[in-house]
Amino acid sequence: MQSSRGDYPMTRMRRLRQHPWSRALVNETILSSADLIWPLFILPDAKGEQPIASLPGVSRRGIELLLKDVEEAVDLGIPAIALFPVTPTELKSDDGREALNPDNLICSATRAIRQRFGNAIGIVCDVALDPYTSHGQDGLLRDGVILNDETLMVLQQQAVVQAAAGASVIAPSDMMDGRIGAVREALDGSGHQDVCIMSYAAKYASAFYGPFRDAVGSKGNLGSGDKKTYQMQPSATDEAIHEVALDLREGADIVMVKPGMPYLDIVYRIKTEFQVPTAVYQVSGEYAMLCAAANNGWLDKEKCMLESLLAFRRAGADMILTYFARDAAKALRK
Ligand code: PBG
Repeated sequence: MQSSRGDYPMTRMRRLRQHPWSRALVNETILSSADLIWPLFILPDAKGEQPIASLPGVSRRGIELLLKDVEEAVDLGIPAIALFPVTPTELKSDDGREALNPDNLICSATRAIRQRFGNAIGIVCDVALDPYTSHGQDGLLRDGVILNDETLMVLQQQAVVQAAAGASVIAPSDMMDGRIGAVREALDGSGHQDVCIMSYAAKYASAFYGPFRDAVGSKGNLGSGDKKTYQMQPSATDEAIHEVALDLREGADIVMVKPGMPYLDIVYRIKTEFQVPTAVYQVSGEYAMLCAAANNGWLDKEKCMLESLLAFRRAGADMILTYFARDAAKALRK
């Protein structure tokens, strides 16, 4: 009789779950505001503000309001922000040349933030052409084909321009082959050897990026196109390991998995395999889903937000890019 009950009643897992103090002692994973990176969308109009319908609570903001957000991030102990520009349609082109303009939106915002805050906060700048191309693709396009090696040369210049403006971290999100090595070489060759690279290493061709493309206004440009010839297919897992190994060899300081919650197995595998600084991006669609349910009264927003972020830490992520960064940092301070 007794044997079929295993270790019970000698072992009772619930003993340590009885009280807050005992749960605190056996806690295995900690989430803090120091784990968060806050993505922010920049609007050309300095005083402007535009809400993003598919990202409730997030707006595109001009530099004046953006500086207020950055100040709040510093106060809340959020170590870094990630900048995404909303490029006016008339500045978009086939070759995305606005990406190389040293006075473009992301560069001027970076300069303003650096000037005001020095090194009190890290500035992550996205390297990829999609905010600047009239076709909405991350690379150069000819006859319907994305040109890998030609794109690398543009990405190198984009990275150098952003580093010169004061970027602390260059984050290539384009998924071209060889881009990390190319960007590292370009940064080193221009005196920016101390600028870090956070590689969007295992980035999937996901449908969860929809609200982001609304936010930066690239959805219409991309139209019925997709990014499947460079972003990974959702069925892949060994391939993610291969991508990360290559990016590390090419000089990535931090590797990222994206999206987040549907890809926790990838986060876990990468952290276990490489033990290097690992980031995860809780993407726009994940944020939108949680907000939509919470706004309908179906989920408790704060609890689900914190649980989702804790899950990333449990899976092995050292840092999390999330639109919840401000709300989470506030909730964690309570
Ligand atoms: C651009 C880029 C994307 C995201 C970050 N950088 C979109 C894409 O690849 O189409 C997505 C972020 C999000 O959905 O929150 N290369």
